[in-house]
Amino acid sequence: MSGLIPQRFVEDLLDRIDLAELIGSRITLKKAGGNYKARCPFHDEKTPSFNVRPDKGFYHCFGCGAHGDAISFVREFDGLGFTDAVEELARRAGMEVPYDQSARQEMQQARTLTDALDYASRFYQSALKGQQGEFARDYLKQRGLDDSIIEQYQLGYAPGTGTALFDSASKDLQGPLVETGTVSDKYGRPRDLFRNRVMFPIRNSRGRTIAFGGRTLGDDKAKYINSPESDVFHKSREIYGLYEAKQSIRQLDRLLVVEGYMDVIALAQNGIHFAVATLGTATNQDSLSALLKQVRHLVFCFDGDQAGYRAADKALENALELLTDGLHLQFLMMPDGEDPDTLVRKEGPDAFQERINGATPLSRYLFNRQSEGLDLTLPEDRGELKARVEPLLKKMPRSTLRDAMWHEMLRLCGNNRGDWQNRRQPNGKADTANAGCRNNGLT
Ligand code: UTP
Ligand code: MN
Repeated sequence: MSGLIPQRFVEDLLDRIDLAELIGSRITLKKAGGNYKARCPFHDEKTPSFNVRPDKGFYHCFGCGAHGDAISFVREFDGLGFTDAVEELARRAGMEVPYDQSARQEMQQARTLTDALDYASRFYQSALKGQQGEFARDYLKQRGLDDSIIEQYQLGYAPGTGTALFDSASKDLQGPLVETGTVSDKYGRPRDLFRNRVMFPIRNSRGRTIAFGGRTLGDDKAKYINSPESDVFHKSREIYGLYEAKQSIRQLDRLLVVEGYMDVIALAQNGIHFAVATLGTATNQDSLSALLKQVRHLVFCFDGDQAGYRAADKALENALELLTDGLHLQFLMMPDGEDPDTLVRKEGPDAFQERINGATPLSRYLFNRQSEGLDLTLPEDRGELKARVEPLLKKMPRSTLRDAMWHEMLRLCGNNRGDWQNRRQPNGKADTANAGCRNNGLT
């Protein structure tokens, strides 16, 4: 849709935006002559190398090379797409975006869908407060949630009767409810998708409802069900709890990535407001890029069982390709049988926060995991370690981190510079077997 906003409007908008004021609303700026300086929001640094030049309308970071105008700042900092970034700036400037005809129709359509979903969310919320929501209220209370957290996450209750939502909606909302899958028409007649469930609305970066997750209160086979994909809901790109996290924390600098809706909410209830959950496959590349658009520091939290470790391995493998310098990824494995929800309630927020702070850096997780079951005093097992680790490191883009991990691999294989293999051969030549190990196209 980006081509459908006239370029002239975009230029006009950029002229009207005061870049210092815009950036100053997100991070702390210090005046330096006619310009401004700050610690760069796009990489970790102690001394400010981020410069804002309002007269020229751009920012530049001498540390990491981040560079751009008001639109790119909002895109990067707020994690928005082009259209949303333009919308956000237009809102600040009190201007209306002049979409062309087809774009306008598309927007209108999306608005109709989110209107219907927002309606459904309000319906579920009021059902939770009403008479039929009594059991659900007790359930949430028994899971340790109070009213303010229920309000913040807009939790609701979907009544058990087959068409409660559909029947309550006006004619013009019924179609869109079907279109988003909130009401199914699989058998030729409408039927609410969510019945007798606690409802978790999934909201986009602007706080509009785009889908739901629902947890059964009965003995349904599916403990959770989720809205199907729709024009406004692309599972792999959405992050549950992000909107709420951003509402609670002005400068989000890290995210704790957990597996379940209830984990996100239980952590928030315990004062840990930066937990989010990905939807669908926890750790595919789309989800990872969506997360990394928000922050440069991710702590992945997984269950301590076999499945949890497998999921962590998968997350690691997918992350490797995206792993450039300045990104900080960590793993936090729960004790067996616990999830963040049960653990934070058992141990309390301080102990859980301690765990987060002590999470294992990706590099250490990788080496620990890959050397499991190996005896590194045995040459065979060192060879095995290298065979396991090398293909993983080869996935990483060139970076200081990769070089350092490469050296760590060689060190663990007993293969590093100054070690046995670097000794001169009797003929005075360096051992070429080792050169093979070091110079395989990576360094
Ligand atoms: P879990 O089965 O680990 O549940 O699913 P949980 O979060 O601990 O839930 P509680 O504590 O019993 O309420 C984790 C996540 O996997 C998805 C949901 O997103 C859930 O939050 N899930 C799980 C489904 O989509 N469908 C299911 O049937 C189960
Ligand atoms: Mn749970």
